[in-house]
Amino acid sequence: MHIRETRPDDLPALFALRAQTRENALGVEELAGYGITPESSAAAMQRDEIKGWLCEADGSIVGFASGDRASGEMLVLAMLPDYEGRGIGKALLDHVVGWLQSLGHARIWLVANPDPTVRAHGFYRHCGWTATGELIGGEEVMEYRGVQPRSAA
Ligand SMILES: CC(C)(COP(=O)(O)OP(=O)(O)OC[C@H]1O[C@@H](n2cnc3c(N)ncnc32)[C@H](O)[C@@H]1OP(=O)(O)O)[C@@H](O)C(=O)NCCC(=O)NCCS
Repeated sequence: MHIRETRPDDLPALFALRAQTRENALGVEELAGYGITPESSAAAMQRDEIKGWLCEADGSIVGFASGDRASGEMLVLAMLPDYEGRGIGKALLDHVVGWLQSLGHARIWLVANPDPTVRAHGFYRHCGWTATGELIGGEEVMEYRGVQPRSAA
């Protein structure tokens, strides 16, 4: 298992992975509807606006996460089903949170599925995130104001 920084040429594989999560899956076409494509993300990465990390295991990419430099938003975190529950999601989250905090963001935020039965709901709370009570498009806004993760790059 190896975590490394995401490169623009990884993005097509990451979009394919995002469609394969057990819960909260998002397909390539659905994301394109929001204007989010491998090409737009690669361009944002090359402009240094977004940055991410991915995990490789058993010869392929099994999870990834990224954040937005200007806003302090955690943009995405996704694991393949067979690799959930091994601490990789938390490790990827820590990399993004650590990077955003190193930029001076005291508050890191994200939007998440408010359904308490999905894994992400308990995961973020377990990792020290809190719901603000605000909803954006039916998704709940969560924030993290905690200490910088030790494992972060
Ligand atoms: C949510 C997700 C990223 C979690 O990744 P993961 O690799 O399975 O989580 P981890 O194994 O790193 O869990 C880290 C910690 O959170 C805890 N945890 C995870 N889910 C939990 C839950 N629902 N309730 C309480 N604790 C939970 C784990 O027990 C672990 O605790 P520990 O560090 O004390 O041992 C993963 O399930 C996923 O990709 N889901 C589908 C996509 C998705 O929903 N992404 C988020 C969109 S907003």
